[in-house]
Amino acid sequence: MNPQLLSQSIALDGLPTELAEELIKVARTRPVKAGVAVFEAGDPADGFYALLEGSLRVILRGEDGEQVLALLSPGAIFGEMALFDGEPRSASIVASKPSRVAFFDKGAVFRFADDNPAVYRHMLCIVGRRLRASNASLAARSLLPLTGRVAQTMLHLSDLFGKTVGNERILVHHKISQADLAAMVGAARENVSRVLNDWKREGHISRISGYYCIEDPAALRALASI
Ligand code: CMP
Repeated sequence: MNPQLLSQSIALDGLPTELAEELIKVARTRPVKAGVAVFEAGDPADGFYALLEGSLRVILRGEDGEQVLALLSPGAIFGEMALFDGEPRSASIVASKPSRVAFFDKGAVFRFADDNPAVYRHMLCIVGRRLRASNASLAARSLLPLTGRVAQTMLHLSDLFGKTVGNERILVHHKISQADLAAMVGAARENVSRVLNDWKREGHISRISGYYCIEDPAALRALASI
């Protein structure tokens, strides 16, 4: 394990560096191949994880396909919900490309967190952030037309993976399929594809080496506002 990489990753999600460095001592890292699940919804919880490299999808599977709840980028902490509420895993976590995760065992985490309550504050913060994001997407589903929902999802992805590339343009530096985008928006792929094509014609977005580039973030923000 590379301790520096691990502490940087965790610190990225807001955990104070000195706590991250202590937590490192109880972590085990492992690779996850593309398409393979770290765990499945319904599994018992035995600890939480941090994503060190790669990218993960948080998904719920149903009979008619899957709903992508979120994409996780390096630095994200996940698997904390079931750890703290004692219920089974609330969603499946699947690698969208070769990834590496750090695992923090339940017993060691609780012992450490009991001695360092800042860890609990930090976890609460993460859960709160997720609840806000879920509320926003719930509200968007009932209050925004499809274009607004696609805009909101694209802006969310730019928060996670965006790089400013001049003139306020934002390159979403993560390969996102139209199927994933549609699963995040909760709409048919063909309809999402139509919105994206319209935006390309209107100059709101472009494609650069397979990545989406938001050419006009203000236009997308206006479409996404409720
Ligand atoms: P847990 O329930 O242990 O296992 C699935 C994990 O997915 C969950 O913890 C969270 O870490 C993560 N998760 C669940 N729902 C969301 C969401 N809406 N957005 C981002 N992450 C989520």
